[in-house]
Amino acid sequence: MCGIVGVIGNPQAVDVVTTGLSRLEYRGYDSAGLAVLGPAGAIHTCKAVGKLAALMAKIPGFNATLPTPPTTAIGHTRWATHGAPTEANAHPHVGTCGAHTIAVVHNGIIENYNEYRTTLAKQGATFASETDTEIIPNALAHRMQGVGVSLVQAVQQLTPTFRGHFAFVAMAQGKPDELVGTRRGAPLCVGLAEGASYLVSDPLALAGICSRFVYLEDDDVVHLTPNRLTITDKNGLPTTRPVTTLDLSTEASGKQGFKHFMLKEIHEQPAVCARILQEYTDAQTLLPCLPLLGLNLATVTTINIVACGTANYAGQVGKYAIESLSRIPTNTDIASEFRYRTPPLRPGDLFIAVSQSGETADTLAALEHAKANGQQILVLTNTPTSTMARMADAVINLQAGREIAVASTKAFTAMVLNLILLGLQLGHARGHLSGAQVHGHTTHLRTLPGLIESMLSHTGVLQKVASGLTGSHSALFLGRGMLAPLAYEGALKMKEISYIHAEGYASGEMKHGPIALVEPGLPVINLATSTDGLFEKTLSNLQEVAARRGHIILVTDDAGATQLPLSGKQGLTLVTVPSSPPLLAPIIFAVPLQLLAYLTATEKGTDVDQPRNLAKSVTVE
Ligand code: F6R
Repeated sequence: MCGIVGVIGNPQAVDVVTTGLSRLEYRGYDSAGLAVLGPAGAIHTCKAVGKLAALMAKIPGFNATLPTPPTTAIGHTRWATHGAPTEANAHPHVGTCGAHTIAVVHNGIIENYNEYRTTLAKQGATFASETDTEIIPNALAHRMQGVGVSLVQAVQQLTPTFRGHFAFVAMAQGKPDELVGTRRGAPLCVGLAEGASYLVSDPLALAGICSRFVYLEDDDVVHLTPNRLTITDKNGLPTTRPVTTLDLSTEASGKQGFKHFMLKEIHEQPAVCARILQEYTDAQTLLPCLPLLGLNLATVTTINIVACGTANYAGQVGKYAIESLSRIPTNTDIASEFRYRTPPLRPGDLFIAVSQSGETADTLAALEHAKANGQQILVLTNTPTSTMARMADAVINLQAGREIAVASTKAFTAMVLNLILLGLQLGHARGHLSGAQVHGHTTHLRTLPGLIESMLSHTGVLQKVASGLTGSHSALFLGRGMLAPLAYEGALKMKEISYIHAEGYASGEMKHGPIALVEPGLPVINLATSTDGLFEKTLSNLQEVAARRGHIILVTDDAGATQLPLSGKQGLTLVTVPSSPPLLAPIIFAVPLQLLAYLTATEKGTDVDQPRNLAKSVTVE
């Protein structure tokens, strides 16, 4: 959450910062701001509430106040934690003590900010915002004034005293040729170019500007001048970190004719599935060949899959797949709960983190806990350069391609498909499935791209259902077996982008309480495949809703539609998907749910790609 861009040594510093921020808006869009060092070394700031567009509108006026284009700048796009989205709370924050004025952009949370605020206030500091961030420039300025140290020394001395996960970049008035940055838990990397250097939350910010990057380790402090990079580690000792070359040329592509990134990404799913199957199944044998060499599967007795939000629902589908295909007992957990209930962990067992971004703070904390307890770490991520990937024993690149829309679609599908392949690979390795059985499954999986494509061109019924939903205050999503997590995911998608209150339940759970919510006209979206042996039970649950005059929207496969009793069809809206073997169902059923949420949201006119209060990468706990 929150995006940081720092530039030094580039006469287009303001442009680079704003372009970078536009690519980091996925990290938050409550406010944006930048600070530059003018020719006389004075700090000038410009901030605006709301999306980057509001800041951009102010930039021409801001530039006009600067005598020459600055070469040093820092910028920030905010996802509010401490303090409302106001201009006063927007970054950069500035703190002064004596001769020292410091500006800071910050991502994450300084948990002990209140202690700092009290102490600094007693020392004469004044605060203009409600943020935790503001203590950083003030503490740095006080340190520099009090003990006569430089900016980089102040950062080195104070960072160990800050609690929490964070990254920040600081610059000092009168020092136009230096930037200092540090990180713990939250991402920050250095971009290197001829005569200029950069500090960014995500290399994507610098696509087309530089291709060489240095990833910082926790508690590293980096000191940048236009031509020099110096890093000290958590013990204050000089260190070097490897330079990684990234090809970002294709990363920043636009909507390609689609109205929203979300719709584009829904339509990319056939290609994503094809890519995963090509990359991770052997062309001859069709056996899965996920890159698991870093793991010792012989010691695995239990698997823990840990993730957040949509990734957690993908993990829940993965549990069904792995347990049924490999017979290895598998637990799933929400990362924020897993970490703090200190579950018993057996060394040698397998911990799987599922994370599109690879940076989610809760998942990262859970991963660190599992690693400290001797678990083998497998990370499924769409960002193979992410912090989680760098901590893993083995990494499965989701192969979904950059996902821009905040509501996840193609990354979910990619997670599910990769977890199914993992189940097959483990099942084969453990001798639970024969080569012929696995071959049968992967042959079916290869039909996925075509099946998804066929669904994407038939959205008429969904459009009608979506129109009906726009007037609803509430909706229920129900499913059984592998489709239970799909019901949770369908409800999450709906509430995220249409702001309609939606709940997902396992169908069998309805009678234990949620059925009290059913009243005439309540939309109840039921997911039912005819191939999992649960179809009749699901139809019974559906009758229970019908008896209370809920409006049933049944999403089922072609074969299921023909099995409906005639009486059961009355008052029901039918959405059909192609019939498929059960293993494919969670992916097939994801598509209409994504489209339903998308169509409802567009009809309501909400901000589909950047829904309110959300951010794509959640790097605070
Ligand atoms: C919902 C959504 C979120 C993320 C969650 C975890 O559409 O995208 O629920 O799934 O914040 O994010 P990652 O996968 O980056 O760890």
